[in-house]
Parts: sequence; C-alpha cells; structure tokens
Amino acid sequence: MSGLPGDALGEGPFGLELDGAPLAPLAARLGTPLYVYGGHTLRRRFAALRQALGHAGRPAQIRYAMKANRYGPVLDRVRAEGDLRIDACSPREVERALQHGFEPHEVSLTAGMLSNRDLATVARYGVRPNLDTFSALRRWAATPDRGAAIGLRLNPEVSVGWGQEPKLAYGNSKFGFDQAALPAAVAEARALGLVVEEVHMHLGWGLQRGQADLLRQAFSRLAALAGTIDTLRTVNVGGGLGWPHRRQDDPLPLDAWGALVGEALAPLDPAIAVACEPGTYVAAAAGVLVVEVNTVETRQSGRWVGVDAGHGINVFAAHYGIPLITVPVRGPRRAPTEVIHLAGNINEANDIFARDLPLPEVAEGDLLAFWPAGAYGASMASDHCLRGRPAEVLVEPPRPAAR
Ligand SMILES: Cc1ncc(COP(=O)(O)O)c(C=O)c1O
Repeated sequence: MSGLPGDALGEGPFGLELDGAPLAPLAARLGTPLYVYGGHTLRRRFAALRQALGHAGRPAQIRYAMKANRYGPVLDRVRAEGDLRIDACSPREVERALQHGFEPHEVSLTAGMLSNRDLATVARYGVRPNLDTFSALRRWAATPDRGAAIGLRLNPEVSVGWGQEPKLAYGNSKFGFDQAALPAAVAEARALGLVVEEVHMHLGWGLQRGQADLLRQAFSRLAALAGTIDTLRTVNVGGGLGWPHRRQDDPLPLDAWGALVGEALAPLDPAIAVACEPGTYVAAAAGVLVVEVNTVETRQSGRWVGVDAGHGINVFAAHYGIPLITVPVRGPRRAPTEVIHLAGNINEANDIFARDLPLPEVAEGDLLAFWPAGAYGASMASDHCLRGRPAEVLVEPPRPAAR
C-alpha cells in the first residue's frame, strides 16, 4: 500500500499486515514483543538476487548469511528454495544449518579469531572455511580430518557502509588479509597442503549508491587478485545490500550492485563462479517487530512513549544508532500529529528507539511495528535485565485452493 515503507507491508481491515497477514491478531495470539517474517517476501528477495547475479554471465551461488536470521522456519524456507546455500559464522551456526537439511558442501564458514576448538568442529562437519589470518591457516592445516579446500578473506581497504559508521564498515577492520599479503597467504596455504578455492570480500553493512566508485575499486582489486590464483573456483563478494532507514538514506540498488559485480569480474575465466552472502537484503525487509505501547507521558523533556521491548530485543538504535521505521499497527493510516521520544524497557539511559519522532497519536495498549526488522533482530537478542526473548513467527501466504 502506498505510503508504507517496504512492499511487504500493507493495510487491511485489521490494520497493518505483513505479506497479507494481519499483525494485530498475531500479536494477540503470540504476545509481544513479536518478530513476524514473511515467507513470500523472502522468496521474492532471493528471486531478485538470482536475477541480478545472472547478469554476471557466470555460475552464481547465493549463500544466505544466517547470522541475520536463524529462526528455524526461515532456514526451512531458505532450504526449500533448493539452490541456496548458507554462510555461517560459528560452529553452532554450521550445526544448525546441517540440522535444517543443508549438506556440508552447501555450507561455508566465514569468521575471524577462530579457536582450535572452532576449527576442529568445522573440520568434523566437513565444512570449508574462509580464513583471514596466517595463524588460522597454520592451525587449520594442523587440524585432524580437515578438508584441503579453503577460501581466503580479504580486507576491502575501502570504508563503505551506512552513515560512515565505523561499526558498519569492514575496510581496515579486524577482518581479512591485507591485499598486499595475499600472494604470501596463497604461498603459505600451498606449502601447508591447502587449496585456495575462493577469495572473499565483505565490504560493509548498508552500502549506499553514492559509494559506487569505492565499491568498483574494491571489487576490481578482488577480481585482479583472484586472477592470480590458478586453483580458484569462486569469487565471493559478501553481503551489504540494504534498505533505507532514514529519509537521507539512498541504498545501492540491487541492479547497480549486480552491474558493478559483473563488470569487475568480467576479465576472469567464465568458469569461475560468483558467490554472495546476503543477510540484510533478504531478511530485513521480510520482517517486522511488533511491540505494545505501555506508557504515554509528558515530561519537561518531551512526550515519551514507552514500549514492551528494549535493546535486548532489538539492538539497532542503541548499539548502531540505526533507527527502525515506526508504523502504528491500528488502522486506518493517519498522518503524524505529535513528536515523541520512543523508549524501551531496559534500565539504561541509552535504551531509546527514537528521539523527536513524528507519529500519529498513540494510546497505551496500541501496537507499533518496527521495520525493516527481519535481520539482526531476534538473532542478536539477549535476555538483558531478564526481560526475556522475543516470540517469532513466519507467515506464508495461503496456498491457492485445490480444485
Ligand atoms: C562475512 C559476512 N558475510 C555476509 C554478511 C551479511 O551482510 P549483510 O547483512 O550486510 O548482507 C556479513 C555481515 O556481517 C558478514 O560478516
């Protein structure tokens, strides 16, 4: 419906809907705070990604970054797509992917600062790691029952991502071999009996259209380095595509990203596959967080609206400074009539979802939906202050009636 952020959201007789499922009855049945995910939107996002990667003119692999959302029914939906793989970032994520039907060769592990215990577990599961230190190379080579194939993760060496926020940019961060060190890493891997099948680069969270030149530079360097490795099978361009959170956000469009990737990789042998690891692009827009207003109070500092969730349920505002878009669940849609501060229920001063937020008048007992909340929401939730964990549900559109 027009005026609503995200095409997964609409409005029906019961107010706000996600993928056609009314949120108020779901909240009444399952309680709040509640994450609702739309299976139809997940499928549409994967379909769009397939199409964008198709333009690269080479085999393509989409590896869902399950750290974004590891809810069992979401993983089952990803598995049901048939051609999708998983990128995991810990041994337990690997384990969970295998429990949801993915084969070891369909799962990769991309993580830093791995312990010997982590490496041993990954080796036991038969999963291929993307490594990013000489230390991990040597310790993986010494791990019993490990496979020979590995990927090497590179430092993007450019700073890109949402809001120039250092927490969200991966250039010169704790991740990745320096690009100048790649030949030495490849030589070391060979000497240790390992086979470098992939080079990997994840640039940042929330890539913006205005950063296209830096992305072009990073992907071109990735491709040039890839071209020097004769055992290479895949070039992995990571994740990073996102959604607008503020009026001034201008996310890199999917097609522009696909064109940049295709252009940068064009000089490489067409048998070399392109892989990507989307988390946010597929999961964020497919999810909302539904919370209940429990407090409306005017103080000298302004009008405060309190809800039954805090940064233990969603870390975006408090940890990253990223606002989620707030939409009242009760219909019909109304224009903002007041400016409020939206606060969570954790006993810390930073537990504020938004300041000076224009909103239609809300009453205690009303429901609010936060969007896009399907990625890094429940998967990053904690039980801080013993406030408990959120409920989750996946809604699927009704199947057409059988004739
Ligand atoms: C290695 C790696 N791949 C993929 C992703 C997914 O990124 P996004 O959610 O921005 O698509 C991340 C996110 O942190 C990551 O670290």
